[in-house]
Amino acid sequence: MERILDETFSLWGDGLTREAYARFNAAQMKTRWGAAHLHRIALVDGGQLLCTAKRYDLAGWLHGRRVRILGIGAVFTPPPLRGRGYARTLIEEMLRVAQEEEIELALLFSEIGPKYYERIGFLPVRIPDALLTVDVKPGAPAMLVRSGGERDYPEIAAMHALRAEGYEFALDRSVDYLAYAVSKKRLAAGLGPSGRRAVQFFAAEEGGRAVAYLLMTVSGGHPQGNGGVGKRAPLVPPEYWIIEDCGDRDPTGARLGAMLQVLLARMPGERPPTIVGWLPGGFRPPQISAVTEVASSSVMMMRWTGQQIDPLPLEPEKLLYWRGDAF
Ligand SMILES: CC(C)(COP(=O)(O)OP(=O)(O)OC[C@H]1O[C@@H](n2cnc3c(N)ncnc32)[C@H](O)[C@@H]1OP(=O)(O)O)[C@@H](O)C(=O)NCCC(=O)NCCS
Repeated sequence: MERILDETFSLWGDGLTREAYARFNAAQMKTRWGAAHLHRIALVDGGQLLCTAKRYDLAGWLHGRRVRILGIGAVFTPPPLRGRGYARTLIEEMLRVAQEEEIELALLFSEIGPKYYERIGFLPVRIPDALLTVDVKPGAPAMLVRSGGERDYPEIAAMHALRAEGYEFALDRSVDYLAYAVSKKRLAAGLGPSGRRAVQFFAAEEGGRAVAYLLMTVSGGHPQGNGGVGKRAPLVPPEYWIIEDCGDRDPTGARLGAMLQVLLARMPGERPPTIVGWLPGGFRPPQISAVTEVASSSVMMMRWTGQQIDPLPLEPEKLLYWRGDAF
């Protein structure tokens, strides 16, 4: 593990110290979901590390059917050993083992474009980054927006499951998965240099239940403190808001749009933030007045672990997949 961390730190350290990078990795594995569903795999020859990857045991719905999913992340071959087929061997071995375990689908997010993985049979789903312009009016909508928390996870899981019915592919996200996903974002921000990045999690509730939520990573400004609603510390604009995950019991996302308006109303007179996220097909809160799509640096790719069973949904609008669920 130390070898793997030493080798990959310069590439994926993302502003953390080497020690914080180790803690970031270890802490993810210690969450309830991570302990059971996230594994570090290595191809070794005696004591030598030839290639490594992360294996995620995920579940999802594909064409209305529940499927188990092999998630492959952080594929890495030490530079002197590249070009000898080690990554391909490791990935093919992961696919073979998954197939034996009756895991049908394999999913990854390529940071190096699609070509390399296309050679191993993966097909790209090009979900674009959507840059959002929110219609801001003077004052904020009369809506109670509070900090989100663990108590909201059952509602969030239910909201996601309901929305997933309208798509050909979506992850099946349990309460434990959500706890892992939120912790991962918080750890990345919390272990990083102070003021570089903050995670903000909000919910709108009705009758005591969360009916919409928003998880975002804020960077570019200099947030101090946790930026809770109403007690927001001064930030240096412009900020960059990455919508990691969101949901709304309203099919169009009108509550989420109002939440964004409330959050923007906290910063009158400041340069508005750049807001970016992955928007599933048909999810267009009416308060979003413009969407500019740009190619994402992360390309989702999928294949069956074994022989092709059915055609895969490769058009982004057929998928419900939030940016924060990319690994
Ligand atoms: C990508 C990576 C894992 C490949 O490991 P490897 O063990 O060298 O892979 P293989 O030996 O199976 O395949 C090597 C082939 O992949 C090609 N390749 C490597 N990086 C590539 C890229 N970014 N795009 C397209 N092809 C690439 C090589 O040119 C080589 O081609 P060749 O067979 O025609 O000579 C390795 O380059 C690496 O660790 N890169 C840094 C980490 C990284 O970016 N990982 C991917 C995250 S999504």
